[in-house]
Amino acid sequence: MPSTEFEKIVLAGADDHDLTRLSEYERVGGYQSLRKALGMERQAVLDELLAAGLRGRGGAGFPMGRKASFVPKPEQTTKPIYLTINADESEPGTFKDREIMQRVPHRLIEGALITAYTIGSNHVFIYIRGEYLSEFEIVRAALAEARDRGLVGANVLGSGWNCTIVLHRGAGAYICGEETALLESLEGKRGQPRSKPPFPALQGLYASPTLINNVETIATVPPIIEKGGAWYAQFGVPNSAGTRVFSLSGNVANGGNYELPMGISLRELIYDIGGGIPDGRKLKAIIPGGSSTPVLTADDIDTALDFDAIGAAGSMLGSGAIIAIDDRACMVQLALRVAQFYQHESCGKCTPCREGTRWMVNIIEKVETGHAQQGDLDLLLSVCDRILGKCLCPLGDAAAMPVASYVDRFREEFQAHIDQGCCPFGDSSSLDRILSPVQQHARLLRELAVIA
Ligand SMILES: Cc1cc2nc3c(=O)[nH]c(=O)nc-3n(C[C@H](O)[C@H](O)[C@H](O)COP(=O)(O)O)c2cc1C
Repeated sequence: MPSTEFEKIVLAGADDHDLTRLSEYERVGGYQSLRKALGMERQAVLDELLAAGLRGRGGAGFPMGRKASFVPKPEQTTKPIYLTINADESEPGTFKDREIMQRVPHRLIEGALITAYTIGSNHVFIYIRGEYLSEFEIVRAALAEARDRGLVGANVLGSGWNCTIVLHRGAGAYICGEETALLESLEGKRGQPRSKPPFPALQGLYASPTLINNVETIATVPPIIEKGGAWYAQFGVPNSAGTRVFSLSGNVANGGNYELPMGISLRELIYDIGGGIPDGRKLKAIIPGGSSTPVLTADDIDTALDFDAIGAAGSMLGSGAIIAIDDRACMVQLALRVAQFYQHESCGKCTPCREGTRWMVNIIEKVETGHAQQGDLDLLLSVCDRILGKCLCPLGDAAAMPVASYVDRFREEFQAHIDQGCCPFGDSSSLDRILSPVQQHARLLRELAVIA
């Protein structure tokens, strides 16, 4: 079943037009939603977002309209109101915001303007991952065109409403995708999370009311305003409305981003659309929402890709990144790579995360190299338990949850490492094929250093 059978909403038109160009975007109706929104009461725009049932695409899945409704109205505050867009996209396996910025940058800008207007903001910040250089250039060029056309800046489209958009580059820290660390970083401070409450909606950037949303969430706003919240809500399934740009990777024939209605099954995505597992291998495990989410097994293949169904299966839809893992992969090696990533990215502010991630790596390394003792798996689970829910931000959970799930669901494989005193997979593990190109490059450099 080719993905083109499904209506695209966020990436609509991008297959047939070069939507990085303002003239092409306008030809497919671009910026008409902004015109429409500017002619509506702010509350009426918000009502459409509420009716759409759009849930945040950054990870937590909080309803977008409800979060916007928590921001004080301009008449209720003397402070400026900010909209901050999270384009930091660093969760391993996730690469959909990248494609949205590459292909439909004006939809993101239009969504930013409509959302800013809705909450009574005159200032938007887009915090873009530092490594996304070409995406930065594309969005910057699109912003310049939009400014020249009077869509951004003073007196937007003659409405009397002003709105600036600042594009800010991150500097390579995963933690800066966490919303409060992102705000710290934007303020020029070290990117570390704040304690909540107060939530950003009341005290965010420069202690002022701030709405923070993901790129995909914001890029979904123009079609919702164009066709109405009820129209959008008809896609997907109850409690998980609309489409989602799923990033499919790992041991799968046709990896890539696929915009599909929520509620499609893992089987349809991996086999019908993704072409299945290459080389005649069997599916062994599935990471359903980015590396921080608990792993599922091949038995979960008929689970629907919506918030509730993935939750009932014991995991989370997270950032919508699905990683297929074949039967050659060593789950201990996978757990090690994931734990190493979170150890490296822990900002160090909370002791359970800073120390616990190091403990996790040490224990898993011992298991993988055949130096673990009986009891070390329980020790590992106990370390996970001491991190879970005990940190200021969910990075600790993001590290502990997947590792605990690998042990829970593949315990026999972990135990075999201990019993045999070595990795039963050795070099035959297919793990390299689920490493990102960046990780493979880093590994190559390490190997070259050893040879030299
Ligand atoms: C460690 C960590 C990293 C995160 N990284 C991102 C990210 O790169 N992009 C993103 O949109 N959300 C990320 N989030 C989620 C944000 O904190 C926040 O929930 C999101 O930007 C809200 O947007 P949404 O409601 O539109 O999903 C991260 C959260 C954590 C705990």
